[in-house]
Amino acid sequence: MAKVTPELFHVLNDPKLEAVLARLYNEAVKQIWPVMWRLLPQLPKMIRGGADWDNKDNAYYEDKYIPIVPAQGAFLYMQACALKAKNIVEFGTSFGISTLYLAKAAKDNGGKVITTEYVPKKAATAQQNFDQAGLADYIQILEGDALETLKEVEGEIDLVLLDGWPDLVFEVFKLLEPKLKTGAVIMVDDVEGFTPAMQDYLDYVRSPDNGYISSVVKPDKGMEFTIKVK
Ligand SMILES: C[S@@+](CC[C@H](N)C(=O)[O-])C[C@H]1O[C@@H](n2cnc3c(N)ncnc32)[C@H](O)[C@@H]1O
Repeated sequence: MAKVTPELFHVLNDPKLEAVLARLYNEAVKQIWPVMWRLLPQLPKMIRGGADWDNKDNAYYEDKYIPIVPAQGAFLYMQACALKAKNIVEFGTSFGISTLYLAKAAKDNGGKVITTEYVPKKAATAQQNFDQAGLADYIQILEGDALETLKEVEGEIDLVLLDGWPDLVFEVFKLLEPKLKTGAVIMVDDVEGFTPAMQDYLDYVRSPDNGYISSVVKPDKGMEFTIKVK
């Protein structure tokens, strides 16, 4: 994302939320080059089939946004609207960018988002962002390790976003799996950059016998995606 412009958020139709997202993305953009520099040793691997996640840099990321990009946010929001998702769960809040997209859908659908973040400063700042966007009533943020906090999530879950550290994707998914509704959608970010770190998850959801249909989503050219809502 080179530049943060209002058109990036038009799908949300919520000026207060869009202003908060614009502010957060402007902060995130400033971190892109330092983060890329940090990832430089892994970049060749990330481009050629993906890298492992070795957890060595976790402390470095404690003040980094590393968010989904606005096009992913719009896609998430629209998926949640199409599903009429009410019970939405997220692993990896960071400062709350992806959560805000999901929360707008939760508000539209009469539901809620449960999200979890283990860096206390991030969780506290995310909460402020939710308040500012006017969406705090639709979000419950659980501070702590997802493998503990998400044990208390109740079914049936309509939509899951897994965007914490890639090596935990399968473990967190297995924790939530018994609570997934038939027809639930599970989305995982960074699948291409960190494929080996989540290979166990990919093998599982791509084996039809386990009851899923799964593929990387990356349309080669743009398609207008429209949902009839009224
Ligand atoms: C890629 S960022 C999430 C970005 C966020 N979804 C967004 O789009 O703005 C991953 C986040 O997951 C958090 N995280 C990693 N492992 C975790 C765990 N075991 N429990 C809770 N949070 C975790 C990290 O601290 C980090 O903030």
